[in-house]
This record gives sequence, structure tokens and C-alpha cells, in this order.
Amino acid sequence: MKLFADSANIAELESVLTRGLVRGVTTNPTTLKAETAGDPVSHLRKIVGLLEKDGREFPLSVQVMARTPDEMSRHARVISDALGYKSLIVKIPCEWDSLRVIHDLTANGAQVNATACMTVAQGLLAAQAGARYVSFFAGKMSDAGMDPRRVIADTAPLIQEHGTEIIVGSLRRAYDVTDFASAGAHVVTVPPRFFGLLAEHPKTAEAVDLFAECFLPLS
Ligand code: E4P
Repeated sequence: MKLFADSANIAELESVLTRGLVRGVTTNPTTLKAETAGDPVSHLRKIVGLLEKDGREFPLSVQVMARTPDEMSRHARVISDALGYKSLIVKIPCEWDSLRVIHDLTANGAQVNATACMTVAQGLLAAQAGARYVSFFAGKMSDAGMDPRRVIADTAPLIQEHGTEIIVGSLRRAYDVTDFASAGAHVVTVPPRFFGLLAEHPKTAEAVDLFAECFLPLS
């Protein structure tokens, strides 16, 4: 089970990469727009620079910003050529028309993250079409009265034979991370602000304070 960072913010990404907490990064048009003044590619190059500095070529998901299949394919090519990053994962929303794009891209050697999935059926179709990852948006599923844990658990065995991994994103609370990990997600993609909350506990602080009272100086 792996954790990814769900962010396009350089400082946030540095803070989790330098602690060794994540094995990949997911971005989306919203997080990218918040960080760029109209030039997503140069910002994405900075993220690639961070990942290369870490030396492990972690997967970086970047979403196509297009609605029609032809435009999606073109965007995927433009992003891939501009970044030249071996572990680029092209994010394509899972819909009827885009399944063709997922299939074409994977047939041509690209790796695809079928994103914005809400149902077991979408996960299954995207995996059949060749997606390397299927991303379920847990927060949005809960908003719609669905049970994301159930969808994750039901999808995992159905896509196993394709080697497709489930990413769970759209988290609303820090402890969603461990909830969805134990529900069977292969990857949980985490807004970096949650990591600080997950790393600490009032009882840990209490214990550390008690130890500090018994501080003995080392000679
Ligand atoms: C996952 O890859 C997405 O970036 C993300 O988690 C989107 O969810 P949200 O729009 O509900 O935050």
C-alpha cells in the first residue's frame, strides 16, 4: 500500500518528499491552476525537477485539460513531449468517449490514470481499457450518498488480473487515509496538509513532555 501526495504546490511536495512519505504525486486542473499564472507546463517541469532530485522517478499524474477524445489525445502528447518524464501518468476522466482515449494511449505505451471514477463499473471498464490506475473520488462519492469503502473493496478483486491499481483521492479528513488504506486501496493520494495531523497525537505530546521533565544533560 502506497501514499501519494495530492498537490501541485512545490513547498507542500518538498515537505513530504524530504520526509520520505510519498511514492508518487497526483495533480489535477484545480490544484495546478492554483499554482500557475497560465503556464502549467513550466510549473509541471518544476515538479518533475523535485521528483528527479529525489532520484526515484516516482509516478506523476497530470490530467488532460480537454473534453473531446481528439483533444485529449493531443493534450496527452503535448504534456508528454514537453515533460519528457518516464514516469508520467496521463490522467483521463472515465467516461464513454474517453475510454477510447485510454485504450489508444495505453496501446501506444503511455500509462493512464482513469480519474474521477465513482462506481465499480467505471473502475472495471477503465481497467479493461488498459488503465494503469483507476482513481476513485471518495469525498465526492460520500457527497452522493455512496459508500467509498464498499466500492473500493468490490473493485479490487475485479481488476487484479489487469495489474491495475486503485488510487483513492478526494479526501476530506486526515483519517480517511487509514480508513481507505484498510478498505483495500493500493494507493491513497493525500493532501499534504493532512500528514502533520497524522504524524501527531496529544498523548504522544504528553509523553514527550513528561520525558522532558526528566532531562539529564549528557556530559
Ligand atoms: C485525485 O487524484 C484528485 O486530484 C483529487 O483528490 C480530487 O478531489 P477533490 O476535487 O474532491 O479534492
